[in-house]
Amino acid sequence: MINTITTAPYPEQKPGTSGMRKRVVVFQQNHYLENYIQAIFDSIGDFSGQTLVLGGDGRFYNKEAIQTVVKMAVANGFGKIIIGQNGLLSTPAVSHLIRKNKAYGGLVFSASHNPGGPEGDFGVKYNNGSGGPVSETINEAVYARTLEIEQFKILKTDDIDLATHGVSDMAGTVIEVVDPVKDYAALMQTLFDFDAIRALFEGGFTLQFDAMHAITGPYATLILQDMLGAAKGSVVNGIPLPDFGGKHPDPNPVHAKALCDLMLGDEGPDFGAASDGDGDRNLIVGKNQYVTPSDSLAILAANAHLAPGYKGGIKGIARSMPTSAAADRVADSLGIKCYETPTGWKYFGNLLSAGKISICGEESAGTGSDHVQEKDGLWAVLLWLNILAKRKQSVVEIVREHWQTYGRNYYSRHDYEAVDTQLADDLLAKLRAKLPGLVGQETEAGKITYGDDFSYDDPIDGSHSASQGLRIGFENGARIVARLSGTGTVGATIRLYLERYEPRDGDLGQETQTALKSLIALAEELIGVKSATGRAGPNVIT
Ligand code: G1P
Ligand code: ZN
Repeated sequence: MINTITTAPYPEQKPGTSGMRKRVVVFQQNHYLENYIQAIFDSIGDFSGQTLVLGGDGRFYNKEAIQTVVKMAVANGFGKIIIGQNGLLSTPAVSHLIRKNKAYGGLVFSASHNPGGPEGDFGVKYNNGSGGPVSETINEAVYARTLEIEQFKILKTDDIDLATHGVSDMAGTVIEVVDPVKDYAALMQTLFDFDAIRALFEGGFTLQFDAMHAITGPYATLILQDMLGAAKGSVVNGIPLPDFGGKHPDPNPVHAKALCDLMLGDEGPDFGAASDGDGDRNLIVGKNQYVTPSDSLAILAANAHLAPGYKGGIKGIARSMPTSAAADRVADSLGIKCYETPTGWKYFGNLLSAGKISICGEESAGTGSDHVQEKDGLWAVLLWLNILAKRKQSVVEIVREHWQTYGRNYYSRHDYEAVDTQLADDLLAKLRAKLPGLVGQETEAGKITYGDDFSYDDPIDGSHSASQGLRIGFENGARIVARLSGTGTVGATIRLYLERYEPRDGDLGQETQTALKSLIALAEELIGVKSATGRAGPNVIT
C-alpha cells in the first residue's frame, strides 16, 4: 500500500559542491531524509517505469537510508531499482551502473571523505542518466522544492533482503540486488593492460593500498590482489566499517599518515595508494615521492596513451580552477585544449559528454576520465600501475622526468576548518574589494598581473557560474586562490591554494612549503586568516 505522508519543510536542505551533506543526527530527524528524497523525485522529470541505481559507501545510516528510499522509489513509480549488495556501491560504480543499465539516474549515500559513525556525517547525491552529478539548475530546483514540500510517498512494506544477490518484486517494481564490484572490475579490464600489470607484480613489484575502512576495500581486494596478483595483504583496512574505524576516510598526507610514513625511506613498498569514503578520490605516493594530485593529473594525461583505453591519444584535459597548471603544460605540448572549470566534478560532465575531454581532475585528489562521469580513485591507481608497468621506471623517476620536461608547479593547499561563518565571509569580502588595486603591484613573490573572482561560462550549455573563487595571478605563473568550501558541515572552511611555477632548468628539488614561502606570507598579509582567527596555522596542509 502506498502511503502519502504529510510533512513540513526543513529550510536548510541546500545541496553543496556535491549533493547534500549533514551530520547523521540531522538526517535522523523525523522525515528529514524522506523530504529531501521526495524533493529530488519531484524535480527530475518523468521517470515512471524507469530504472534507479541505489548504493552508498557503507557509512552509518546507509542501510536505513536504502530501506527507506527503496520504498519511496517504488511508491513514486520507478520500474526497476538496482541496489549494491549490502547497500554498498562506490561513487564511480554507481556512475558505471547507471550508464550500463541506461538508468534514469542514481542515488549515492555518502559524505565522501567526511568522518562517519553516529557522530559523523551522512550525505545524499543524485546523479542523472549520464552517470554524473546534476547541474546547478537541478540542484536549485531540488532546493526550491524542499522549501515548499508538504508530503512524500512511501510504500508500506517489509524491509528487503540486501545481503543476497537476485531479483525480486516490490508492488510491481523489479528490485535487483547486484554484486557491487563485478561490473566495475569488467570495465577496468577494458581500459588497462591487465597482463602487463600482472607481469609487474610477478616481477616482485610491491604495493600497499589503504582502503581506509571505506568502500574501496572489496574493489581493491578483488582487482589488485585476486585479478592482478598483488601479494595478499597489499590491501590494508579493506573491510568497510560504518565509522571507518573512527578515522577520516580522506586520502591525504594527514589522514593517510601511516601509509605516507611507510613510503618514506627505503623499506616500504614500491607504490602506495589510498582512496576515500566513497571511492572517488585517490592518493598516489611512490617510494620517497609523494605525488601531488595536480602533478598526478598532468602525469596521467602525458602517459595515458600507454593504456589500451587511451591508446589513440586523449581529446582534451580539464582541471578545476584551483588545481595547478601542470596539466596545461601537458595539453600545450600535446596540442590539445585544457579547460579550466569551477571546483566540483559536475562542471566536467558536459565536457565529457560532448567528447571535448578524455581526462580531468582536481587538486583535491580527484582524477577521472570519460569511462564514467565521476572521479574514480581505483581508476587512477590502475592507470598509474599500467604506466609503471610499461615505462619500467619507478614513481620517483617518472615524476622527476616529468618536471625536467615541463617544469614544476610547486603547489599546496592550506585549509582553515570550522571558522566562524560570518568571519570567513567578511575575510573573503575584504579580499574581493582589494583585488582591483593589487594589479600591477610588485611583491616578493613577483608582479601581480590579475586579481578577480573566477566565473565560468560552460562552453556546451552556455550556463554561467559566478563567484567561484578569488584569484591573484603573477607574471611568473604563480597564483594565490582563496575560496570557501561547499562540502563542510561545521562552520566555514577557508581554502587557500598556493602555486609557483619553476621552469625546467630551475631548482626542481625544493621542499614544497619552503618553495612557496613568499606566497604563503603574502597570502596572510592580504587575507589575514591567521590573525583574524587567532590560529597558528592551517588545520590541513595538502
Ligand atoms: C571539495 C573539493 C572539490 C571536490 C569536492 C567533492 O569541495 O575541494 O574539489 O569536488 O570536495 O569531493 P569544497 O569543500 O572545496 O567545496
Ligand atoms: Zn569522495
